[in-house]
Amino acid sequence: MSTADACAVGCRFCFRADVGRDVLSIEQYAHALSRLHELGIDEVCLSGGEPTDHPDFRQFVRVALQFGFRCAVVTAAREGKRLSALAGVAGMLSHVTVSADSQEAERLGHTGRTIASTTAVFDALGHTRASLHVTAYELGDEDLADIRAVVTAAGVGLEVSPLLPSRTFRFDNPNLAHDLDLIENSLGMSPELRAVVDQYHQWMADPPHRDCESERLYLSADGYLRRCPYDTERQVSVDASRQEISEAVQRMLTEPPHTDIACLAICRPSSAEEAANPVDHDAGNADQAYRQEEPVR
Ligand SMILES: C[S@@+](CC[C@H](N)C(=O)[O-])C[C@H]1O[C@@H](n2cnc3c(N)ncnc32)[C@H](O)[C@@H]1O
Repeated sequence: MSTADACAVGCRFCFRADVGRDVLSIEQYAHALSRLHELGIDEVCLSGGEPTDHPDFRQFVRVALQFGFRCAVVTAAREGKRLSALAGVAGMLSHVTVSADSQEAERLGHTGRTIASTTAVFDALGHTRASLHVTAYELGDEDLADIRAVVTAAGVGLEVSPLLPSRTFRFDNPNLAHDLDLIENSLGMSPELRAVVDQYHQWMADPPHRDCESERLYLSADGYLRRCPYDTERQVSVDASRQEISEAVQRMLTEPPHTDIACLAICRPSSAEEAANPVDHDAGNADQAYRQEEPVR
């Protein structure tokens, strides 16, 4: 769920689908939860934008629990109001993904999300239903040392995802092969990620056209449900009737949108592939591409 289109974190490389001024209202959010509950969905992930900046962040979490959803959050919080907002609801969250960047990704994106500064965030949670998510570009030994120090001290899981191009930030990644080898050798890597990123440069020139395989729905900050965040052609307002929403969601499943370079990073394997290569779906970050085996959350 995108809590807001605008984002004060302002990562220059951000690949989110919606940028603008829309802010998710508590009314549309509750309406969406009511419909999604009827459709059998049982977990929401608050992202954005920066969810802890939303004035109704606490309410979002409480309302999700009242409807019986598990509620996860993806956040760049580090200190001040963002951290207090997060700490205030931490006990209610099923999972907290704390986003961070390798030193070079941080420099490139002007993100302020260093790996070392996540320690204070994990301390503030009071539990370990959490993971460190590192967006990696030119991954180096210092990054690896920081990652190890944080996950060991905090006892949380780790996700590493290569920095990927977005609609507004296209670039060739000459370090990708090096980054991937380092991730694979130092941390381990899922076969799914290896398969995706092996074709990365080819995809930038010639994006593959295949059906969306995401098993998630996306709620935009202006109150539309879509299967793919990037597909504004097939969407339905949360203000539509029950029947319209149910039929629209059904259509999104039977007539999936096509992928392009923008959404490859959040695309999930199909059920058939997944049955052959099961992965844990229990994390809050829809963008995750890699999960470390240990420590187990
Ligand atoms: C769009 S952010 C929104 C939530 C929150 N503001 C945060 O910083 O975590 C969600 C995740 O997308 C990741 N992300 C954004 N752009 C990316 C890109 N171009 N390549 C890889 N990951 C990206 C971020 O690092 C973050 O972990």
